[in-house]
Amino acid sequence: MASTLVPHGIRRLGVLGAGQMGTGIALVSAMRAKVPVLLYDKSPEQVKKGLALVDKLLDKDVGKGRLTNDEAKDVRGRIEVVPAESGFKGLRDVDMVVEAVSENLQLKETIFASLAAELKPEAILATNTSSISITKIAAATLGKNVSPASEEGKRIASRVVGLHFFNPVPVMKLVELISALQTSQETLDRARSFAVACGKTVTVSKDVPGFVSNALLMPFINEAIMHLEKGIATREDIDTTLKLGMNHPMGPLQLADFIGLDTCLAIQKTLYEGTSDSKYRPSILLEQMVNAGWLGRKSGKGFYDY
Ligand code: CAA
Repeated sequence: MASTLVPHGIRRLGVLGAGQMGTGIALVSAMRAKVPVLLYDKSPEQVKKGLALVDKLLDKDVGKGRLTNDEAKDVRGRIEVVPAESGFKGLRDVDMVVEAVSENLQLKETIFASLAAELKPEAILATNTSSISITKIAAATLGKNVSPASEEGKRIASRVVGLHFFNPVPVMKLVELISALQTSQETLDRARSFAVACGKTVTVSKDVPGFVSNALLMPFINEAIMHLEKGIATREDIDTTLKLGMNHPMGPLQLADFIGLDTCLAIQKTLYEGTSDSKYRPSILLEQMVNAGWLGRKSGKGFYDY
């Protein structure tokens, strides 16, 4: 039976976090879904970097004849920065926010409690988490005086949804959609519709640690790191084997550097703690590299030098 896509009804989007994911989400929302975006990050420096990336990508599209100068200007004009001092109050008018801060449950819980208090009662609160329980994040939206079983508690938490984009967001065609136990069908339908408007194909996963994507990807990356640790092959031979033997665009060690080794470790810890399954135990080498501050591409050193 053919299903119809409900209208997403997002007239203005908030994006929280101007790192590589947040910036990419802001760009595809402004370019593909043509929605005005309010971009917030507590660090003005990060916002500056994010906007520089947006400008670079738009220039590239103009250079390749995929956008006219005027179209690129329109896209750029749809991205507005919320001054850091406004805090989440600056996001008050949005119909949906996508949170894309680092993989830390406590940080996300604090953020979602504030978002639920500041935003319109009907606004969707989406998280781009790669592995953290959406149900826990949804539970954090309730203040101490609101019972999760009350009508008010159910209504507040029903607006939370997982909307997991992939890096680089403008290039990767997938969004994973995850429902918390509390998520309403309306929230799910609207979030899906928004992801489709951004030009993405949507897959659905249950709210389990790592969802489908990272529950499969992270053991693969970790196994590659353990092969390196055991001296089974060089980093180049591990990566080349997977690139040329299996047609992966990047080898697993290159991909880990690309994702960020701190992010890989945070996801692996969530998987391990959430399942108690030893197959998800992070390798010692990964832990050590993160302890050394070797975080992959973003820090200039990971399994490779950049
Ligand atoms: N942002 C935006 N666009 C980028 C980009 C970036 N950071 N890096 C590359 N691109 C674009 C380029 O501009 C180029 O676009 P055009 O074709 O429009 O010119 C295109 O990607 C191809 O780039 P290159 O030719 O420079 O390089 P490439 O062919 O080697 O492709 C790649 C680069 C797309 C990153 C490719 O190597 C790839 O697909 N790698 C795997 C990426 C992947 O698996 N991502 C998922 C990671 S997991 C995740 O994100 C979720 C999680 O929860 C951890």
